[in-house]
Amino acid sequence: MNDDVSTHQAEDDARNESILIYVDGRILPRDQAVISVYDSGFMLGDGVWEGLRLYNGHWAFLGEHMDRLFQAAKAIDLDIGLDQDGVIAALQATRAANGMETDAHARLMLTRGVKTRPFQHPGLSRSGPTMVIIMEHSRPRIPRPIRLATVPHLRGLPMTQDPKLNSHSKLNCILACIAAEKAGADEALMLDVHGFVNTTNACNFFIVRKGEVWTSTGDYCMNGITRQKVIDACRADGIPMFERNFSLVDTYGADEAFLTGTFGAQTPVGQIDGRMIGDGQQGPVTTRLQGLYKALISRECT
Ligand SMILES: Cc1ncc(COP(=O)(O)O)c(C=O)c1O
Repeated sequence: MNDDVSTHQAEDDARNESILIYVDGRILPRDQAVISVYDSGFMLGDGVWEGLRLYNGHWAFLGEHMDRLFQAAKAIDLDIGLDQDGVIAALQATRAANGMETDAHARLMLTRGVKTRPFQHPGLSRSGPTMVIIMEHSRPRIPRPIRLATVPHLRGLPMTQDPKLNSHSKLNCILACIAAEKAGADEALMLDVHGFVNTTNACNFFIVRKGEVWTSTGDYCMNGITRQKVIDACRADGIPMFERNFSLVDTYGADEAFLTGTFGAQTPVGQIDGRMIGDGQQGPVTTRLQGLYKALISRECT
């Protein structure tokens, strides 16, 4: 039996075969949406991206996504060539062309553009940036709690490649995910440079112990927008919430664990390194937080 599960699994939707994709101001059928083999994103992973979701005709937390994108572009010295309204207009044009209203996911990618020669120097990217927006019909369908495996790949220090950057180059995370899959898990649990539990390769990570919700200090992991919304929801609803260091011992002994991300919202974790977490099923605090997050989305996106 094939028991493969990923944290970004969605219901099959035949409409995704004929989506229209935004490429540098043009909206093209999926099979014609191509970029140059000289593109810095393809050649070197030299770019940044955002994942956004559309509910009831509204982009959830659009301001936060735009702020993170523009901050990342500034950090890698990439001139987007548009202001936030310009990027939002591109998102809206893609949405309108696809006639999408709800349960749609967008991956907005920006690279340094097309190089004149196939080498690393950023000055060789003479035309650009390249901006691509892929929107898909997307209803997450994750059939069972996620299994994690701890891997040797660390969340690095900010002076190497700041793990807060949503960079195109995700090789560290991809290697982590491969290692986890080879260990029989779905996704990797990654530690920080001190050995504290930090994040997974594609989502932020939380545990629940005796009614308290714990997540990492936020150093070494993506400054996830969903992560922050869950922290805020806990605080607003009187759920004890701590951003702190914790170890694998604390984690294996947790009553519940869950992941956060724009795609899956809050995804339960049932097993870590072969240890069952709680009873291996979604726990009550995770369910409560899912409810609070859904209510927040309804308020934001009406
Ligand atoms: C490594 C990593 N962690 C966490 C997240 C979740 O962030 P957000 O909640 O903003 O989608 C992402 C998504 O981009 C990610 O790539």
